[in-house]
Amino acid sequence: MNTKYLYINTIGCQMNVYDSEQMVRRLKPLGYEISPSMEAADLIIVNTCAIREKAEQKAFSFLGRLTALKRKKPELIICVGGCVAQQEGRMILERVHNVDLVFGTHALNRLPEHIRKISLKRCRISDVEMTKEIIEFPSEIKPGIEDGITRFVTIMRGCDNYCTYCVVPHVRGPEISRRPENVVNEIRELVEAGVKEVTLLGQNVNSYGIKEGLCSFPELLKFVNEIEGLLRIRFTTSHPKDLSEGLISAFAGLEKLCSHIHLPVQSGSNSVLKRMNRKYTRELYIDKIERLRKISPDLAITSDIIVGFPGETDEDFKATLDLVKEVEFDGLFTFGYSDRKNAPAAKFSDKVPDDKKNKRLQELLELQEYYTVKKNRALIGSTALILVEGFSKKQGDGDVQEGFTGVHWTGRTATNKIVNFVDENFLSGDTALIGKIINVKIEKAFSHSLLGKPVDLKGLPVGITGEESYAA
Ligand code: SAH
Ligand code: SF4
Ligand code: F3S
Repeated sequence: MNTKYLYINTIGCQMNVYDSEQMVRRLKPLGYEISPSMEAADLIIVNTCAIREKAEQKAFSFLGRLTALKRKKPELIICVGGCVAQQEGRMILERVHNVDLVFGTHALNRLPEHIRKISLKRCRISDVEMTKEIIEFPSEIKPGIEDGITRFVTIMRGCDNYCTYCVVPHVRGPEISRRPENVVNEIRELVEAGVKEVTLLGQNVNSYGIKEGLCSFPELLKFVNEIEGLLRIRFTTSHPKDLSEGLISAFAGLEKLCSHIHLPVQSGSNSVLKRMNRKYTRELYIDKIERLRKISPDLAITSDIIVGFPGETDEDFKATLDLVKEVEFDGLFTFGYSDRKNAPAAKFSDKVPDDKKNKRLQELLELQEYYTVKKNRALIGSTALILVEGFSKKQGDGDVQEGFTGVHWTGRTATNKIVNFVDENFLSGDTALIGKIINVKIEKAFSHSLLGKPVDLKGLPVGITGEESYAA
């Protein structure tokens, strides 16, 4: 079989990253390998996101950039997958003449058959049919290590929560969970291929398995915790209304579960939360934070906040600022509210004008910056266990700090903070440190990362496995 080249542009959340990986695996039997460049590709897929208007625009501007490429290479196949594909369907074929295939979020299984058809007949296809079954990996194709030692694993798809601003339930369909044994087997295969950390993905992991009568999410975590060779487990996202005592206790009981939770609050105002259909109050949210911190005092907590939701008053926004001051998040993702078709809030009155939204966003960002830096600075002088992921981007770009010369590595703490560190002795010029957990002394703190030096690296990399250093 001739090797053909595949190029995927992934926009959006981790679920799309996982789905793009599935596409690669599914297209391998057809002879497709990852392309060294976009220009060399025989097949280009853009995996799209519809969460905000900007994300949607990104997909269309990428497609626009492909016009010249297709002119030069008419046999090039261009596909649009993911959430915008699901939302717009055939309309994309009408709007963008270069597109050969539009395939929605439930059409992953059918991707190879569509590509085969298009290669033979040069037809144009739109497939946005939704299915009730959960989509599973084709088990005959084993995962590779090429994407690094950390990996996302989707444990459930869709969402039943219908927050009024959100497009996800409309483009991903109803919530459905994968069977625990399929999740565990997939992680085992990943670990065999060299993966050391997995992030379990779901829009609301707390409701994992409930509808289908499978095991609970904390039980699934326990099964994953038992997988030999796996060093770290993360998960996202947990909905505050469903954050259970079982999950809170898991932070104390499971040694591989990282001490970080992403718990999106969206707003600090009860009236906004009500209109968002979030089904919790700020008091309940703060109560859950207190419980988490009681059981796990070092737990890092991050969140999402939407600014300028329809009808958000100055008082509502102040309530959000107050909540941020009270909780002191480790990090925050802030978004300006964006109207989404199908989402009920698009029809709400009292839209907040863009300039007000931007001013509020700026104020919130500055406030959070203060807490992020404060929390990072508090770590100076301490020693943290870092899972080494690879070489730091800073390597050789002139941004290297004084007193920090050597091989620059990057990794994360269990609390999900990025730590760049230097191996002064050039012991590890090869890749031997990747996938190991090592002790790093934190010496400098910035808003997005920490800088440190390894402790006792001399013994490494020879003879010490990641597992052993984890136990140490
Ligand atoms: N299931 C997750 C969120 C997934 S979407 C949860 O409930 O927490 C990721 C984030 O995008 C959301 O937390 C929200 O902050 C933001 N978001 C979703 N829809 C949005 C919209 N219409 N405008 C602005 N931000 C939005
Ligand atoms: Fe969207 Fe709400 Fe579902 Fe999260 S829980 S995906 S915000 S509808
Ligand atoms: Fe975007 Fe779809 Fe994820 S809308 S955030 S890619 S679920």
